[in-house]
Amino acid sequence: MIEKLKEIKEKALVEIQNISDKKSLNEIKVKYLGKQGELTAILRGMRDVSPEDRPKVGALVNEVRSEIESRIEEKENRFDEEELANSLASEKIDITEPSKFISKGAVHAVPMITDKLIDICVDMGFTVVDGPEVETDYYNFEAMNIPKNHPSRDMQDSFYITDNILLRTQTSAVQSRELETRKPPFKIISPGKTYRNDSDSTHSPVFHQCEGLVVDENVSMADLKIMLSEMMRRLYGEGTKVRFRPSFFPFTEPSIEVDVSCPNCKGEGCKTCKGTGFLEILGAGVVNPKVLDIAGIDSKKFTGFAFGMGIERTSMVLNAIPDLRTMYKNDVRFLSQLK
Ligand code: PHE
Repeated sequence: MIEKLKEIKEKALVEIQNISDKKSLNEIKVKYLGKQGELTAILRGMRDVSPEDRPKVGALVNEVRSEIESRIEEKENRFDEEELANSLASEKIDITEPSKFISKGAVHAVPMITDKLIDICVDMGFTVVDGPEVETDYYNFEAMNIPKNHPSRDMQDSFYITDNILLRTQTSAVQSRELETRKPPFKIISPGKTYRNDSDSTHSPVFHQCEGLVVDENVSMADLKIMLSEMMRRLYGEGTKVRFRPSFFPFTEPSIEVDVSCPNCKGEGCKTCKGTGFLEILGAGVVNPKVLDIAGIDSKKFTGFAFGMGIERTSMVLNAIPDLRTMYKNDVRFLSQLK
């Protein structure tokens, strides 16, 4: 039996030595160590060994078994290492190779200006609020002190859905809603889509506005002018001149229109500003006490100011874009030049 064991050992070690793949190694494992394996058969034959030889034979069986096991394990580890080395070599990436061209998008003018405005206003303590684009006649006009016969109510200008419901023509509708629900003091801005039945090189039926509203005690035109001047300086850059002109809106009294020095010629006069050196950019004013009263705010105690500006208009002025429609063509070459 001892001879047989030695023979098995020699044979197994040679076979393991010559093996070149994991699959055959597994077969060897089964052949010698498995349930039907040669060593297991020997163990079964132990009962025929004389009691005094049993410990010696038993020890030898174990020795042979562990020798075969450790050789198999060694071989297995070697195969694993080789496999890893092969896959590392074949999956090697040369990070110094030039990359394939990946075309990049550009931020559209509308979110770009909206984000700038939000940054500037949030920095000044404003809260950003939202309002519905499908609005009632009441919030869009009535509560903003726009009487029934006002031209902006004309079917030509507004997209009515029913007699009472329309696509909002101005973000000022958000003013009515906020005045009704908030307790002064508060400072809000509301950027969003607005709709008017108007379409040419400077008007689009869908456009964007940003509304601003401040209500507090002792708020005056002086506060509005200081705030807007600072806002325009941050939006259009250091050295921008700001001009205030009297105007009219039913919801502000007094009302103003605001111009900035033409970014194209810095106020010298050019084609963009039609030689005037200035471009009109927003409407504003002191909140009409009637508007506060309609919303149930004590107009003897509180005053306010409001402003509303076109987002596309702001981008057109800032980038000297002559035709609004180029903004909606979504040509990345155009969009990636905008500031
Ligand atoms: N809602 C006005 C417009 O669309 C702009 C505006 C807003 C004017 C707030 C004054 C105060 O033209």
